[in-house]
Amino acid sequence: RNVIKAALLGAGTVGSGVYALAEMLKDEMFQKTGASLEIKKVLVRNTKKDRPGIPKEIMTDNWQEILEDEEIQLVIELMGGVEPARTYIVQALEAGKQVVTANKDVLAEHGQEILSLAENSGCDIQFEAAVAGAIPIIRPLKQSLAGSMLTEIMGIVNGTTNYILTKMSEEGMDYKEALAKATELGYAEADPTADVEGYDAGRKIAIMSSLAFNSKVTFSDVYMEGITKITSDDIRYAKEFGYVIKLLGVTKLVDGKIEVKVHPMLIPEQHPLATVRDSFNAVFVHGEACDDAMFMGRGAGKMPTASAVMGDIIIVMRNIVHDNCGWNGGVAYKNYPVKPIEE
Ligand code: NAP
Ligand code: HSE
Repeated sequence: RNVIKAALLGAGTVGSGVYALAEMLKDEMFQKTGASLEIKKVLVRNTKKDRPGIPKEIMTDNWQEILEDEEIQLVIELMGGVEPARTYIVQALEAGKQVVTANKDVLAEHGQEILSLAENSGCDIQFEAAVAGAIPIIRPLKQSLAGSMLTEIMGIVNGTTNYILTKMSEEGMDYKEALAKATELGYAEADPTADVEGYDAGRKIAIMSSLAFNSKVTFSDVYMEGITKITSDDIRYAKEFGYVIKLLGVTKLVDGKIEVKVHPMLIPEQHPLATVRDSFNAVFVHGEACDDAMFMGRGAGKMPTASAVMGDIIIVMRNIVHDNCGWNGGVAYKNYPVKPIEE
């Protein structure tokens, strides 16, 4: 039986979900790919910590051991943060290993470099979970919507802030309590500043903007305003006038230039985005050819995110089995300039 050996980098919220899902889907994986998946090593900082369901003997804190292991064909990066994740991804691709990652921090800053490297090394990098959790949006942007002449993307792309705003609005929950609950539920980043200040949504909108417009749009191009200044009074007043407050990421192609921003917005209660509650995300896409399309689902959390990672793993495994690597899409060739947003 064909076995593909992989290393999991990170066994936190998402990593532990992926390990559990890989165990649950053992037989299905073979049917779907023609190979079995063996997670040979799991990289963490603290190898002493008990990780229910993950055998102690496969835990390591030694990246070199994974990099130099020629049996390991696939690296699943779920550590987060820019470094050392960027270096590990680059080294894995250079060593001819396929990569799956959920890391928007790395992709929003070094996406073009990494996609070009993957393209040149003939390896695959898949990153569906980096934007909007369980919602399939990366692959549609790279593939299904590639011929749609896209002009705009708008959406709720941060589960933590949507959860906080929902709880404040519907249950009168206090901001701090709602953030603590979002952290407990595994929605928030290791440092939740990224969520509440709009940086996480900024990273996601930069990644989507790059893919939609085939241009280099990075985190530093995004105008960002978070939800930290939104008070319970703001939410109550908005409600009185028939609106809800949502943190939106928006990118548009206007007169050959890209606008890209994240900020809280008043949405009429009847608007479809107003009904996107809890940790759900929604992404609206407009293209001259496709008109409007909308994607909605769980934007954060252990198993929803693990499901997107698992989908990527299955695609990479199929490519390995069927010798079909190489096309990653998303490499900039148009390079529209990014228009600065005035406050
Ligand atoms: P997490 O719970 O903080 O887990 C991070 C894991 O990575 C931990 O196991 C940690 O080891 C390990 N790690 C971190 N730095 C390391 C290093 N330098 N060397 C070795 N191991 C290291 O994070 P998470 O929520 O699972 O998120 C993982 C990734 O998925 C991030 O890129 C995040 O943005 C992305 N993501 C998360 C969600 C979500 O809902 N949580 C959704 C979509 C995407 P220790 O356990 O030993 O500390
Ligand atoms: N912290 C992120 C969120 C995780 O709340 O949306 C999913 O990317």
